Amino acid sequence: MPRVFSGIQPSGVPTLGNYLGAIRNWVPMQNGDESLFCVVDLHAITVWQDPRELARQTREMAAALIACGIDPKRCILFCQSHVRAHAELAWIFNCVARIGWLNRMTQFKDKAGKDREAASAGLYVYPNLMAADIHAYHATQVPVGDDQKQHLELANDIGEKFNHDYGVEFFPHIDPLIQGVAARVMSLRDGTKKMSKSDPSDQSRINLTDDADAIALKIRRAKTDAEPLPEMVTALEARPEARNLVGILAAVTGAAPDAVLRDHAGKGFGAFKEVLSEALVAHLSPIAAEMRRLLADPGAVDAALAEGAHKAAAIAEPIVTRAKEIVGFLPAR
Ligand code: TYM
Repeated sequence: MPRVFSGIQPSGVPTLGNYLGAIRNWVPMQNGDESLFCVVDLHAITVWQDPRELARQTREMAAALIACGIDPKRCILFCQSHVRAHAELAWIFNCVARIGWLNRMTQFKDKAGKDREAASAGLYVYPNLMAADIHAYHATQVPVGDDQKQHLELANDIGEKFNHDYGVEFFPHIDPLIQGVAARVMSLRDGTKKMSKSDPSDQSRINLTDDADAIALKIRRAKTDAEPLPEMVTALEARPEARNLVGILAAVTGAAPDAVLRDHAGKGFGAFKEVLSEALVAHLSPIAAEMRRLLADPGAVDAALAEGAHKAAAIAEPIVTRAKEIVGFLPAR
């Protein structure tokens, strides 16, 4: 099996979007040292993070991944800042990527907001670090949500330009794996915006740590429209909030969206929302309980991350050392 890499930022509690769009798809891809899952704290500080919170959130994210089924014995689970190769290769990629390429990144435009001049330089070169994360392992399979597609295209552009400029076949082509009906879970308050851990409104998202009451309340308050549910999902094209809730129920229950609609066609959202809350609580409450159990022994989570970092560094270091030689750096003795 080709090598798998994916990452998640410890910039808050993982959301239902992270879970359905990414983490859940990582679970069946675990294959020992051929699968790497990374808590990307270097990426997180591209926007301000409270230093006391960042370490706690990093550990919490690792616990969340384990609680979702990422088993540190069956894959490499680690923290990005523990492996130097990421930052080293990212610098080389800063010198390979073109400013024009970075200017096209829609996520930079969204995250930097109106005052682009005040955004960190790190936020601007963020995709170069992401390319380094993957290329440092010669990984070729990257399971992500739909919002990461443009970054992965750039990672391929960077790998190709490096190979071309230095006349080598060194970095392989990366295949983005964007899977399932929930590759893009939207905000509960606005069906045109993605659900995000950094949205100022907690009502916009389901967090993996939410209890049953919080989930029920958020779903009850979720924005919908006054029309009854149709029979086919194609009829939801212009109804983003309704389409999102149907997609979430389909993803959580494993049913096709049309099958979900068949049970609710012609009805309003009251009964549908109850079914959705129940399904979410049944699915997420064991994950939250496992997270609490894991976080009661933070030392064990930290030890798992330390072991992961050790294994990750053993793969990345020879690759990045070779990249430095290709560039022409004098080898360190
Ligand atoms: P991050 O932390 O924003 O999100 C982690 C993963 O969750 C997916 N995701 C979603 N999927 C569906 N619906 C949503 N609303 C939703 N929100 C988030 C993301 O697509 C992602 O797969 N830049 C990355 C982290 C990263 C990375 C990498 C990923 C750093 N290096 C290398 C892959 C490979 C990010 O910010 O993810």
